[in-house]
Amino acid sequence: MNTAALVVTNVTKRFGSHQAVESVSLAVAVGDAAVILGPSGCGKTTLLRLIAGLEVPDSGEIFLNGTKVTGLRHSMVPPHQRGIGFVFQDLALWPHLTVWKNLDFVLGSAKTPRAQRAARIHQALNLVRIDPLSARYPHELSGGEQQRVALARALVGQPRLLLLDEPLSSLDPELRITLRAELARLQRDLRVTMVYVTHDTQDAAALADDVVEMRAGRIVSVSKPMR
Ligand SMILES: Nc1ncnc2c1ncn2[C@@H]1O[C@H](COP(=O)(O)OP(=O)(O)O)[C@@H](O)[C@H]1O
Ligand SMILES: [Mg+2]
Repeated sequence: MNTAALVVTNVTKRFGSHQAVESVSLAVAVGDAAVILGPSGCGKTTLLRLIAGLEVPDSGEIFLNGTKVTGLRHSMVPPHQRGIGFVFQDLALWPHLTVWKNLDFVLGSAKTPRAQRAARIHQALNLVRIDPLSARYPHELSGGEQQRVALARALVGQPRLLLLDEPLSSLDPELRITLRAELARLQRDLRVTMVYVTHDTQDAAALADDVVEMRAGRIVSVSKPMR
């Protein structure tokens, strides 16, 4: 059997007395797309942040490609070494950097050799079809274009796991449908493992190999999408 790209076992995270994530277990096979579907406040963002290493679980374990990434100080794999690309709900583009520099900064942090960076950046921008916009600053872009930059920035490091937190939620319905279809194409073409968080059942139908329903911090069902 192939090692799963992501395994989460019995992960719990509390904030004060509030259980944000409660005994969550989940496995995603290499190249698959899991969509975590649930209402606002059910713990979706917290779960993604735990997988990325931006939060530390109170208990439970997380494995990426068979390697345990959680644990006490020295055994914990930090976020930048997890091979993850993250599209945040609010995008979190760096406002003082051009599109090109937003991507270059990621490669610089990953210590990608300078000679390889330009080709990698062009490739990522081409994938999301915004190569001509590379000299612009985020505030000079439309919402949909900013969304594409966030996706390109998440892909440029060639992550083994792509985490997306409601990436289409701020877009108007038409653009949402277009970008959703493009994302489905990209995920299939790149065969990148994806965990996609949303409260939108149409996102789940279009993108998921597995639909993971969450309520109040817990996973309540895992099913195949209705298409
Ligand atoms: N840093 C934090 N401190 C305190 N409470 C938090 C924090 N982050 C999330 N929460 C709480 O945990 C619950 C789950 O939040 P979140 O994971 O953001 O849900 P979702 O992304 O599904 O909307 C919410 O009740 C939220 O208020
Ligand atoms: Mg959220």
